[in-house]
Amino acid sequence: MQIFLDTASVEEIKKALSFGVVSGVTTNPTLMSRESGASFKDIILKIAGMVPGPVSAEVTAHDAKGMISQAMEIVGWSDSDDFRDRITIKVPMTSEGTSAIKELSSRGISTNCTLVFTPVQAMLACEAGATFISPFVGRIDDSGLDGTAVLKDIVSMVRTNGYVSQIIAASIRHPAHVYGAAMLGCDIATIPLVVLEQCFKNPLTDIGIRKFDEDWKKFQASQAPKA
Ligand code: G3P
Repeated sequence: MQIFLDTASVEEIKKALSFGVVSGVTTNPTLMSRESGASFKDIILKIAGMVPGPVSAEVTAHDAKGMISQAMEIVGWSDSDDFRDRITIKVPMTSEGTSAIKELSSRGISTNCTLVFTPVQAMLACEAGATFISPFVGRIDDSGLDGTAVLKDIVSMVRTNGYVSQIIAASIRHPAHVYGAAMLGCDIATIPLVVLEQCFKNPLTDIGIRKFDEDWKKFQASQAPKA
């Protein structure tokens, strides 16, 4: 399973890239609102210059025509083929959204259908030709359902029907969501930095490192030349 970082923060991306496990980034208007100073365009171009893989930028129009026009503007922010290959237009799961996804996909533009909460919504996004679909696991939990169980149904629906859309487990709140997504065979999990950092942690690892340090010191002492 690939790991994307769910953030619009260049500092967070810099830190997460140093871990050697992150290949893409997803943003949304809420994440953008936490950044100050730079424009949407500047932030997306900066992020695209940092990460090796897909970068999702979300449209805010509610009608397909507006979404397509915003998408074309975003895609045109750089004339490099590499940018065009990796920039991914995030489109909400509405009938206007699927209409925009269909058109953008016919133009060879990568799309990420966001705000997906049910297997039927996921199926519609796949039918429209979305490159990625993003089930919101944490927000499904918030609604009183089991987000990982719904994700399991979505993975099964996609694989059973032979859809090629890649599944991004999104709205990840804790390492158990990452575990669930990986065990279900999701293509990608998009993870906030704080959760990604938690994923590395285990007290037994810390205890193990301390013990190895102590034993290594003992070994080195035993190697010291005898007087
Ligand atoms: O990728 C979607 C994600 O940013 C939403 O997360 O925690 O706001 O539900 P959250």
